[in-house]
This record gives sequence, C-alpha cells and structure tokens, in this order.
Amino acid sequence: MPSSAWTHEAVVASFAMLVLAIESSCDETAAAVIEDGRRVLSDVVSSQIAVHARYGGVVPELASRQHLLQIQPVLQGALDEAEVTLDDLDAVAVTYGPGLVGSLVVGVNAAKAVAFARGLPLVGVHHLEGHTYAAWIEAEPDVDPGFPLIVLIASGAHTDLILMRGHGDYEVLGRTRDDAAGEAFDKAGRVLGLGYPGGPAIQRAAEGVETPLVLPRAWLGDSLEFSFSGLKTALLHKAQELGVYPPPPGGPPPDVVAELASAFQTAVVDVIATKAAEAVRRHGARGLVLGGGVSANALLRQECAARSPVPVIIPAPRHCTDNAAMIGVAGSYALDRGITHGLELDAVPSLALA
Ligand code: KG4
Ligand code: ZN
Repeated sequence: MPSSAWTHEAVVASFAMLVLAIESSCDETAAAVIEDGRRVLSDVVSSQIAVHARYGGVVPELASRQHLLQIQPVLQGALDEAEVTLDDLDAVAVTYGPGLVGSLVVGVNAAKAVAFARGLPLVGVHHLEGHTYAAWIEAEPDVDPGFPLIVLIASGAHTDLILMRGHGDYEVLGRTRDDAAGEAFDKAGRVLGLGYPGGPAIQRAAEGVETPLVLPRAWLGDSLEFSFSGLKTALLHKAQELGVYPPPPGGPPPDVVAELASAFQTAVVDVIATKAAEAVRRHGARGLVLGGGVSANALLRQECAARSPVPVIIPAPRHCTDNAAMIGVAGSYALDRGITHGLELDAVPSLALA
C-alpha cells in the first residue's frame, strides 16, 4: 500500500541514529542496520529452511546450532552492506522473545557482546512488536498512519489481533486457541505433499484454481479469537477421502491437491480477513496493519484490502517474514521513547506483548 493512503498526521522519526538490529527467534538468522528510525541501510537474512525442510518443521536444536554458525557472518554482512563499522553505531536492538530459547540466546548474546564492547545502549524488542513495525520500514519520515490501529500478526507461531493505541501501547484483542495460521499452513502442506514451508507452497498450488470444495471455518461466535485445528482435521479427512493422503504410489493427483490447497487457503483467509475487519469496526481503528509470514499471502492481502473499511498497511513480502530490519525500526522507536535494557537482558521465550 503506498504511503499516500496513510493519514498524514503525527510527525515521528525525528530521531537521528544508526541502529544495528539482530533477530534470531526462530529459524532465520538476521541482522540489519537502520538509520533514522525507518531507513534500511542493510538487511541480511540467512534462512534455515533447507536445514528444517526434511523434518517438515523447525527442529529447535538444529536451529540454535545453525544460528551459532551464522550469527557472525550475518552480522559482518549487515555492517559491510551498510558500509559502516561498529564505530559508527549508536545503539543495538535485538529480539529477546517470544521464540525458541536456544535460538533467542544466540542473538541476545551477540547483541550484548557488541553493546558491551562498544559501550552502546541496548534495547530488547518483542518479536511481534517487530512484525508490527515492519509497516514503518521505508515509510516517509514525516508520515504516521494515525492511531488507533488494528494489527494482525499471522505467522508460524502467532495469529494475534492487536489494538495499537500509540507507539508502544498495545492490547491483545484475540489470538489463536490452538494452531497458528502459519502452523496450519505448514501442516496442510505436509498432508498435501507440498513440502515445507507449507504457506508459499499452498499459495502456488492454489493459484488460479476455483473449486466448489468448502472446508469448515471456526467462527467462535463473535469473539476475535481464532482456531485452526478443526480445519486442519477436516483437510486431513478430505485428503484421505480423495486419495491424496497417505500419498499413493506415483504421488497424489495434482488437480485434487490444487483444489484442496485452494479450499484450505480460502477458509483460513476468510476467517482472518473477516475478524480483522470486524476488529477495525469495533475499535474505530484508522488503519489495519498486517504482519508475520502469513501476511505474505496474496489472497490474504487482497481480501484484507477488500474488506477493511480503512487503509490497509502491508509490508513488502520480505518484511512480512522474519527479518532484522523490522526489529531495528521497532528498536529505534523504543529508544526514542527512552527504553533501554542493561546487559542483564536475557531471552524470554514466552514474553508477553501487553
Ligand atoms: O513470521 P514468520 O517468518 O516466522 C514466524 O515468526 O513464525 O512466518 C513463517 C510462517 C510459516 O508458517 C509459513 O508457512 C508462513 O509464514 N508463510 C505463508 C506464506 N509465506 C510464508 N503462509 C501463507 N502464504 C504465504 N505466501
Ligand atoms: Zn515472526
């Protein structure tokens, strides 16, 4: 969404600083250098997808080992790409939760090492706050979307609807009672034989497919909570009935896989887009911000834009999935509010947002 659709209101990002940001909460080792709150000088992401693909999901022990191998070259890569050295930095920002503890500690300790060695302020960032601030990446420096905002974070670990009243002011309105949307996509990808991660694979398989097949939606009354486990089971049963799962010799019929992928994607998107638009109406929000890996989904982006009564702010797909640029932007805003953490900062795997 072009920033011209934003409400030109509050003027922020008047802060001038160079922030090194680190993200390692799950299966991406990432580092970025952010200037003046919003400008991305570098944005390096080392994905572990190839390592975890054969297991159909993230294996925590492998993830931490991979972070250890990648953190130093990724950090150096971010500094080199930005054409800066540690001497140029003003602060260090790092994701300290929620996430996999063995993964988080690698990033947190790398950030602490840089902050200690250079005497720099250190700020810990909540991973979901990072996804939220992906919407501010490269936005015009004097433009803010106007509050309150509804933030929808749909990722491998979260499906959260958040009311954001201002910078750093959050209320969680609803989250998933069982599987996260991305987790459901990944499990569906496995059932359909499409590999890991399931989200992009299902989107590709469903492209241009129209099907009369309808899978169930869990509306949960008028609550803003989500549930995807029933849909996942319904997909499994349909896949068994139609000879897709377990995969027959020679593989499942691609046209049936495509129809199931399309029906699954439509069901997930229908529930998320409907509830996000409802949250906007209920809270008189002035914008809807999408974040998290699932918000890279083209149908979700399209349906949220179609159903929301207010402008929808969607980061570029590469900033929807895990990256450090979003942590650098969120960290810059936190620093601007005077927030810093000392060297006692530690990984908090189940860190709460609000
Ligand atoms: O935010 P993210 O990179 O990592 C977490 O914090 O979890 O999200 C990863 C999730 C995976 O479950 C992946 O299947 C999903 O995002 N995903 C998608 C798409 N791209 C990534 N889901 C649906 N459609 C996509 N295009
Ligand atoms: Zn994430």
